[in-house]
Amino acid sequence: MFEIGENLDGILAGVLFLIWLPAAIFATRLAWRPSRRALRRSARALSRLLIAALVVLVIKCVAIGLMLSVDWIFADNRVIVQMPLLLLPMLAVAVWSVPRLRALARTEPADVEAPDAAVRAAAADPVLVVPFQVTAVATVVGVYFAYISRPVPSYVDDVLTHGLPIVFAAVLLWIWQGYRLRAVRADGFARRGPGARALRAAVQVAVVLVVLVGTVVFVARSSRLPDTMSMNAHGNVDYGGGTALSHGAAGPAGRVVSVDELRGPQTGTPDKTYTLTARKAKVRLASGTEIEALTYNGQSPGPEIRVRQGELVEVTLRNEMPDENVTIHWHGLDVPNGEDGVAGATQDAVAMGGSHTYRFVAEQVGTFWYHTHQNPLEAVRRGLFGALIVEPAAGPPAGERDVVVMPHEWRTPDENIVAFGTSDTLQRQEIAPGTPVRLRLINTDNNPATDSRPRQLVVNGAPVRVVAIDGVDVSGPTPLTDPRLGLAAGGRYDVTFTMPSHAVRVTDLAREDRGLVLAPPGDSSTPEVVGDGPTFDPLTYGSGGERPFDTGSRFDRTFTQLLDDRLSFFDGGLHLVPIINGHSFPDTPTLMVREGELVKVKIVNRSHQNHPMHLHGHHALVLSRNGVAATGSPWWIDSLDIIPGEVYEIAFRTDNPGMWMDHCHNLDHAANGMVMHLMYEGVSTPYQLGRGTPNQPE
Ligand code: C2O
Ligand code: CU
Repeated sequence: MFEIGENLDGILAGVLFLIWLPAAIFATRLAWRPSRRALRRSARALSRLLIAALVVLVIKCVAIGLMLSVDWIFADNRVIVQMPLLLLPMLAVAVWSVPRLRALARTEPADVEAPDAAVRAAAADPVLVVPFQVTAVATVVGVYFAYISRPVPSYVDDVLTHGLPIVFAAVLLWIWQGYRLRAVRADGFARRGPGARALRAAVQVAVVLVVLVGTVVFVARSSRLPDTMSMNAHGNVDYGGGTALSHGAAGPAGRVVSVDELRGPQTGTPDKTYTLTARKAKVRLASGTEIEALTYNGQSPGPEIRVRQGELVEVTLRNEMPDENVTIHWHGLDVPNGEDGVAGATQDAVAMGGSHTYRFVAEQVGTFWYHTHQNPLEAVRRGLFGALIVEPAAGPPAGERDVVVMPHEWRTPDENIVAFGTSDTLQRQEIAPGTPVRLRLINTDNNPATDSRPRQLVVNGAPVRVVAIDGVDVSGPTPLTDPRLGLAAGGRYDVTFTMPSHAVRVTDLAREDRGLVLAPPGDSSTPEVVGDGPTFDPLTYGSGGERPFDTGSRFDRTFTQLLDDRLSFFDGGLHLVPIINGHSFPDTPTLMVREGELVKVKIVNRSHQNHPMHLHGHHALVLSRNGVAATGSPWWIDSLDIIPGEVYEIAFRTDNPGMWMDHCHNLDHAANGMVMHLMYEGVSTPYQLGRGTPNQPE
């Protein structure tokens, strides 16, 4: 509903412009029609354009109604800013222009002579003409509004920024039309010769072009990000309605703490030690295609890190890539902030020949993954990622077969290759009937380019249970047949089943001819893909479990995030730029919190694409979606996909001090500025980011 309304509304903004532009031109030229008949024809054409505009306006109201039916928050900007700015000038047309136009349309056509001075003066009357011109200007603002500038609450400044140009244009046009009227009165029917008119038109076009090109170049230049930035510096601080806080003022520790102090245990013998060396390597996919990959230890996915709960893990990262810096971020594992691996926030990215050691205790049991947080759009896609599994302290359930499935799209110059890890063909594994199986589905990629939904995975051949989401166990999972599992970018589902006496198939619906077949020994059958099963919905799935807070809780802070997009420049390039509360990084809001608070975040997707939002260092509980409270198992997330027209409320406890990324995990969106930070009071970073530093976290 929202998408239909939103798209329709955008198109109609353009249609209105296409109606009002000729209307304004006709109206402006009325006084210069060569004959009474021609004048009458123009007046009639104008009336027809007015009727068309009225029809479009009605459809526009329907489009806005569609958005309104989803939630007021999707339509309020239209109702408060956009419609009044369109309707007021149109009202002026109805009240002032229409009666005068009708009088002109009734002028006696029998007279094929040029209209007399009185008729011409009536046709050049600013009261008749200017409302048309102003409405045309208002429709330009309407197009600007629909595609380029998206108002954000409270809307007061938007009413001004969108309304003032219209008022300004009205004044100028009034003066100009007054001058034209005097000219009509003074020289009667005199028209300029064709040569003079052509010259004048050429000069007008040239002026418009110069102004336009100049503005574009200026805007493009000024959108370039600074060469060095610090995440300490926030222009746009959001306190979520709570008390004002400062990262630079002493926090609970009585002083400002550097992220460097928020490290894991620096002493003690690690239970598990890994060395990951970033290097370039050729990775061969199952189909034989070779990828010029960026790898950890020469392989992609990188070595699986499998540890047990409570173990002290030490990972040493080295870099042997001459022209790429690297880090490791532990996606979904809520490690101490200093171990989070974000270039420019919690460390300097490791350059060629350098190293960095991460140490943390694996406190959560579940399925996670790791990836570089330096230039991830390029580098994660090209292979710098791997699985991170934390088993229970007592070990995994006896006899369980653990299968890690990592959907990933490999980009080559001519295609996107949909794969599970390096398997871009149909792969088979043998599993004896009766074996308990745990599939760990880890989405290491964006949603498919053609889709504005999360990646769709299906498991066919056996009823399955989703036993964990984003590394948190689901309470009371029930069996599902052929579920369609929409997995957010960065998100994980643990899916279990007992191996039946026939084959089971796991498929990414982006490529149905590939995937993974688990079959009993000797079974060479391949189950059909059933892609139209019920959609798995964590909001209602499962039962029981403990909810430490819900929609009725008292929150210390409530943040609202309007996810949106606009056609504009970001860092020098023109894109459909994703924005949060009207801004892209570094002007996106910084959410300021204090340790120990209960925080609610309302996330609204007003844009044209889905956004898998990922908050580092915390797991949040989903409270509601589109006003409907969560009723299934408590649904804890670190990566939540929000499709256009959805409103989610999530909440979390601020129990992990630091400076945390909160960004869209469609990595191209993050690279285009869909990044913000959760910032604890009294925490600061010594690191910098930007072109002039080693750090490009997105
Ligand atoms: Cu998976 Cu900020 O990352
Ligand atoms: Cu996004």
